[in-house]
Formats: sequence, structure tokens, C-alpha cells
Amino acid sequence: MTIKQLQSAIQELKQTALSDATPGAQKHQTYLGKKGKFNLLAKKILDLSPVDRKKAGQLLNHFKSELETILAHSDAGESGEWVDLSIPGKKPDVGHLHPISQAIAQISRIFERIGFTRVRYPEVDWDWYVFESLNMPPDHPARDEWETFFVDGPTHPDLGKLVLTTHTSNGQVREMERLHGQPPIRMINIARCYRRQQDATHTQMFHQFEGLVVDKGINIQHLKGTLDHFAREFYGPGTKSRIRPFHFQFTEPSFEVDFSCHICQGTGRVGKNKCRFCKSGWHEVGGAGMVHPNVLKAGGIDPSQYTGFAFGWGVERTYSLKDHLNIDDIRLIYSNQASFLRQF
Ligand code: PHE
Repeated sequence: MTIKQLQSAIQELKQTALSDATPGAQKHQTYLGKKGKFNLLAKKILDLSPVDRKKAGQLLNHFKSELETILAHSDAGESGEWVDLSIPGKKPDVGHLHPISQAIAQISRIFERIGFTRVRYPEVDWDWYVFESLNMPPDHPARDEWETFFVDGPTHPDLGKLVLTTHTSNGQVREMERLHGQPPIRMINIARCYRRQQDATHTQMFHQFEGLVVDKGINIQHLKGTLDHFAREFYGPGTKSRIRPFHFQFTEPSFEVDFSCHICQGTGRVGKNKCRFCKSGWHEVGGAGMVHPNVLKAGGIDPSQYTGFAFGWGVERTYSLKDHLNIDDIRLIYSNQASFLRQF
């Protein structure tokens, strides 16, 4: 026997092993068992000249590990069927940020560029921050607006019960405290909120973003300018904002905020037909207003010196109104269906 012959015997045995379809355990015996084909071949090393034996030993060692791989793969195949090791592997899917994380990043960037500081406050918070400091004393009927989840837990002697935050407005007085009642304040607070609600446009857990600006001489024009800035940056250059009178306990005056519909440019009509996306030319997105003096006082700020505005609305709703999205059931966003999420 020569090295050349050994090499071709190895090749031949490898091919046989690759195409052998017997079940894994049996196959292992046949090739790597004590009296298996490999050992039979290895014995031939004795026929070689001492010089060639070293080289042959290396070839055989290498072949043995190849055989082990081949056999391991046959074991993995169902009922020992033949596995083609040369087939390229399956690439794992490449993921991306969840659409709501993308929206939060975009919203933060839009406000950070005009000097707002991104903050985040507790999502389980004391009644004081969620309601009472916002000019809603215990038993005030305005609290009914928020379908609140209360937490079974300790009651704080001054701050009251624990609740799952129903809005990000709990960040208002917390931010005033963080800055020791010293304006200027330009805060953007984005966090999870919870309400007892569930339908195509509501989920029990959702996100809100809350803007708060407090300084000397802040007025409604500053609020309107900020809303217009956001509308243009988030939805596109032609988008306008509109404010309508409303009521919140923690702002005076209070407004509801609408953005013009990008499909019909705020006209409510597409050709001769009504715009099907908005019906009236505008989409309502959330609330806003001038910070109520009692809220400034609760945060240690003197309302005779300072004024401020605040706004707050849902990330999911704001995002689903973007023109290329048209998400008609908000619950899909949290359904974890890869086929849905892959689109964003
Ligand atoms: N917190 C209000 C809501 O959840 C929205 C709001 C925020 C209104 C700030 C006015 C000022 O409905």
C-alpha cells in the first residue's frame, strides 16, 4: 500500500459514509465501531514504509474527525436519512426596533432639537402626582375621565394610593420638583400609561408623550408654535395644527389638538368625495393647555411670576396616523405577529 492508495481508499470510504442511509447508531458501528471500516483501513498503515506512516497517521486522524462529523449529522437527520453538508445554512431573520420604539425615538429627536429635555417618570406612581397635584382633589368628578387601575399596596400618608399611571401628566409636578421649582422647564416625558379600555383604537397599555414648558412670559402662541413644529416635522411640511376649547383640571384654558389630514390637506374632500381617512379634514390627537396656577404651586413655582403650557397625547395614535401606515386596529401593534411588525 502507498500513500496515494490510502488517500483514494479514504475518499472512497468517505463517499460511502456520506451516501449511506442506515440509521445513526447502526451506522456508527459500521464505520467507527471496534471492527468498523475505519479501523480496518487504519490497520493498513502497517503495510507502509516507516517514513510514510507518519503522513498516513495524519491523514487518518483528519479523516476520523470528518467521519465523526458525517455521523453526527446523520444522527441529527430524522431516522438517519442522508444530510447534505454542503447546503448553505439558513440565515436567521434580521430584526429591527419595534415600530413604537421607532416612533418614540423620532418624537424625542423632534423635541430635543428645539431644546426639550427627554425625561421618564414612574409608570406606577402615587395618586398625588397622577391626580391630586394636578388640581384634582380626592372625590373630584374629573377623575372619572381616566379609567384607573389601582394597585393593592401601601398608602402613602401624604401622597395617597399607588396607581398605574393613566397619563404622563404625572411627570409635570415631578419635573418641577427635580428642578427645585426653578424654571426654565422644557420637558418631554414619554412613558407607558394604563387604562381600563380595549378596542380597535385603545389598548390597556399604551404610551403617551407629555410636553411641559414653564418660564417667564410663556403664552398660547408658544404652545401653538410648538404644535405646528411637531406637525411639520412628524407628518411632513404641509401639516398644520388646530386647537379647540376643551376642559382639563390642570390647564386653563384647555384645548383639544387636531392635525390636518395629509390625504385631503385638511379639506375633508378628495375630488368629489368625502375623505375616507379623516371625514372632516382633521384628526384629533390629544390635549393641551396653559398650566393651571394650582399645578405650578404644587410644584413649588410662583404663578404670579411664571406661566407655562403643557400637552400630552398617545404615541400609538399619533404614529398610526402617519400617511404610509393606515393601521386600522391599534391592537395589532402589540400582537407580536412577525408578519405585521416586519412591515415597519
Ligand atoms: N393628560 C391628558 C390626557 O391624558 C392630556 C393633557 C396633557 C392635557 C397636558 C393637557 C395638558 O388626556
